[in-house]
Amino acid sequence: MTTHDSKGIRRRDLLKGMIASTVALPSAAVAAERLTEPAATGAKSPHSSIIQRENERPGARDWQLTRVRVNRGQYRTSLIEGYCSRQSVSAGQTLHIFVGTDPARQFNIDVYRMGYYGGAGARHMTTLGPLAGQTQPVPEIGPEPGRLRQCRWEPSAALSIPDDWPSGVYLGKLTTIPAAKSDPYWQSYVIFIVSDDRPADVLFQCSDNTWQAYNRWPVNESLYTHPNGAHAPGVAVSFDRPYGKYVQILDHPLSIGSGEFLLWEYPLCYWLEQEGYDVTYGSNSDTLDPAFLTRCRAFVSVGHDEYWDLRQYRAAEAAIEAGVNLLWLSGNSVYIVSPFSPSAGGQPNRIITRAGSYGPLREDELAAYKDIFSGLTDKAPDERNIIGARSVVPFNGGGDWTCTKPTHWMFERTAMQHGDSIPGLVGWEHHGEPDFERDGLEVVAEGSIWAGGTDEGRYTATIFPGPKRNFVFNAATIFWPQGLSSPPGHILPWSHGSRPHGPDERVQRITHNLLSRALSAV
Ligand SMILES: [Fe+2]
Repeated sequence: MTTHDSKGIRRRDLLKGMIASTVALPSAAVAAERLTEPAATGAKSPHSSIIQRENERPGARDWQLTRVRVNRGQYRTSLIEGYCSRQSVSAGQTLHIFVGTDPARQFNIDVYRMGYYGGAGARHMTTLGPLAGQTQPVPEIGPEPGRLRQCRWEPSAALSIPDDWPSGVYLGKLTTIPAAKSDPYWQSYVIFIVSDDRPADVLFQCSDNTWQAYNRWPVNESLYTHPNGAHAPGVAVSFDRPYGKYVQILDHPLSIGSGEFLLWEYPLCYWLEQEGYDVTYGSNSDTLDPAFLTRCRAFVSVGHDEYWDLRQYRAAEAAIEAGVNLLWLSGNSVYIVSPFSPSAGGQPNRIITRAGSYGPLREDELAAYKDIFSGLTDKAPDERNIIGARSVVPFNGGGDWTCTKPTHWMFERTAMQHGDSIPGLVGWEHHGEPDFERDGLEVVAEGSIWAGGTDEGRYTATIFPGPKRNFVFNAATIFWPQGLSSPPGHILPWSHGSRPHGPDERVQRITHNLLSRALSAV
């Protein structure tokens, strides 16, 4: 959700009532043994060694981009840019990579798997190239209301995913090969996820629908840039195009081509793999299938997870019923109904359209934001059913994350007392107004945010029990992963006059406590 306009709405008046970069823990199992309620066995998946073994392999820091030149007045880099044929791919499948270079230049694709790797943050998996570059056409804007920019480029490379590439987030670093020694090289990324179907402890769901919703490639074509308004219904975006430069709350040219993974999600990936958790990865399109979630003990929504197909909602609902623990380490989650549709070439789940919103809106929200909501006719269930709280007006802002229930098991060994705060951890979007009708829902942290530094709102972090001794935790902030680690090249965000401080042992401890409980055998 993008708005800085919260005229006249003060959440205080509207409410009904109302864990150093490493914590010395060798593994999730150790933390589990320290929990007291309910009795935790410390049981650990037999698959956990996959990620631990992978992270013992040599890392490489040169996954980072060095040289990027963004086109003047645009969000693309026509010198070299590309996209992949799928959001996620599994071992044995073939991924096609489409690359454009203008002027035409030979190039290489260096493929990295993102993780910890002794602090390097990635492992170099392979180099594709040198490959012949060609200038590829920028598609015209499609008809109203979609205004779709959908590329149909010639493939530049075909990558068959080897059986020994573990599930993970993979970056392809595109680098031009200069025609003369006096010319500079230029770079950008492509990004894809390798998924699997094995039983695993933790499912890390990338928020790639939301990356695409905010992608302005090539000129200014995101779901927020329709001439009829920032939240016009029926606007669509395609995954068949490169990710442009991230610009929403900070200018980050060195993430170009990688969506928003490096900004909001990578610190959690780096930390989970550092701590040896048995993690597997998927895209929003993978979580259409309930079985993709129910094979895991914990499902994690990460960072900015706003755009959901209704089938994703149903899958999360089914996962809770099946006993999966849900951790919303995210904000503004499950807010816009965004059905998938196939590409012009027939590839499924390659377009998302803004169709509606989740949950009932209050009359005052409808009144204050009718420009935003009036066209969103596709009504969907209340997202509080699967989160515990919801996106509330004002949608964005910054604040401190303040403990209100220090006796809860999730705060064990944090030393947090009632009223203790983690500075700047809430931002730039959050959840509030919890579902007090739900049995067992507890508010564990709450406080104020200020949109634009002036308009006060309230965030609420919650936890509620599932039917099989599982739980649903809502951290209520996009910035939660910022408190877990600071990988190489990471830039801390700054928004609404507020910022998080980076790794905090309390955020790390709370996350360990939650995961340990989630991974405990029941
Ligand atoms: Fe948002």
